[in-house]
Amino acid sequence: MSKLANKNILLCVTGGIAAYKAAELVRLFKTSNAFVKVLMTKGAQEFITPLTMQALSGEKVHTDLLSKEAEAAMGHIELAKWCDVIVIAPCSANSLSKLAEGRGDDLLSAVCLASESELCIAPAMNQAMWKDSRTQKNLKKILRSGAKIIGPASGEQACGDVGEGRMTEPKDILNEIENKFKKGSLSGKKVLITAGPTQEMIDPVRYISNKSSGKMGFSLAEEVKNQGAIVTLISGPVNLNTPDKVERFDVKSAKEMQSKVEELIEDFDLFISAAAVADFKPKKLQENKIKKDSNNKKVKLVLNKNSDILKAISEKKLNLKTVGFAAETENLITNAKRKLSDKNLDLIVANDVSDESIGFDSDENEVTLITKKEKKIIKKTSKKIISKKIVEFIAQKVIND
Ligand code: PMT
Repeated sequence: MSKLANKNILLCVTGGIAAYKAAELVRLFKTSNAFVKVLMTKGAQEFITPLTMQALSGEKVHTDLLSKEAEAAMGHIELAKWCDVIVIAPCSANSLSKLAEGRGDDLLSAVCLASESELCIAPAMNQAMWKDSRTQKNLKKILRSGAKIIGPASGEQACGDVGEGRMTEPKDILNEIENKFKKGSLSGKKVLITAGPTQEMIDPVRYISNKSSGKMGFSLAEEVKNQGAIVTLISGPVNLNTPDKVERFDVKSAKEMQSKVEELIEDFDLFISAAAVADFKPKKLQENKIKKDSNNKKVKLVLNKNSDILKAISEKKLNLKTVGFAAETENLITNAKRKLSDKNLDLIVANDVSDESIGFDSDENEVTLITKKEKKIIKKTSKKIISKKIVEFIAQKVIND
């Protein structure tokens, strides 16, 4: 039986040439035994008639926010409460922008504002409109609110352009919506992850940093996202691509990382601190490049301690779980246990970084997971598999404890 059987799907169609593909989507939802209602914006009705959608769905099509008839029978609030999932396909740049702004001046935006259901959006627009920085900013805002973005696909467009912006094919949208109902172990959880090194400037051209590549943190972000969570990544300077559907903020220094974490943290269920935050920074940032041609054989660098981001967050006693990493070159377990208790964490992942084949800047790792109650070793393997096992452990022993 399809995962969509007996689910209430509100299919919202906005103005764009891909609106004709929404007819096929109604048919696919119906053959999956879902209940389908269709909402069409004014723009959508320029491309395909409500009568077509009514014939396919077997239901009256919803078009107006202030229609007396609609308000009496099924107004925007009733529609918002009725559906298990809202699917906007195709979603135009204009509708995307309204959703990002939280507007409520037409039936579509009002329903989305009033609904607590899952929101899945299949954007479709000209490739230049898709690439535009304002569209991308709107997209980020919508992703953060927990909506799922499906596509868009690349290829030849109706206007003759070639690029990203075509609506994902109806059968692939169907698959994505079905997957949404296969719950991952962190489904719906909001997770903040830090990754990579920080850089602490000495003078305009030199800095103190460490060997972290960000691979461990990025791999965790990918896996946490695969388990259904909404993921935000704060990364130090690394050379890695952002995992698909993960929101990313780039920072350089520990201070910048701390500010970003503190700005965002209130919203999250879980904080994973995989970043190798510099423990020290130069007491004074030299305004000009330090010259080597002076008579001095030595240059004295005075370092101050950076504040501990993870510790500061756990001291706030927010309603979230905290996971730290411990990078150790000696007394791995004793030191990691001390960090678990000093920083009052739910889990610490102990890393032996004296072995160059694991830990910093390697594709592999070997870790020991330590909570107040138990200890579990994950033997040397790829960071991808290590991430899967850490996330499995977090879902079972940290989140659902
Ligand atoms: O990035 P890769 O090349 O893939 O390498 C992965 C890794 C080795 C960097 C990673 O697995 C790891 O161990 N990260 C933590 C490194 C570290 O800073 O460990 P620590 O023992 O110094 O710190 C303990 C915990 O406190 C960490 O969760 C750290 O993020 C956090 N911390 C540390 C200092 C500080 N000022 N603020 C912090 O939040």
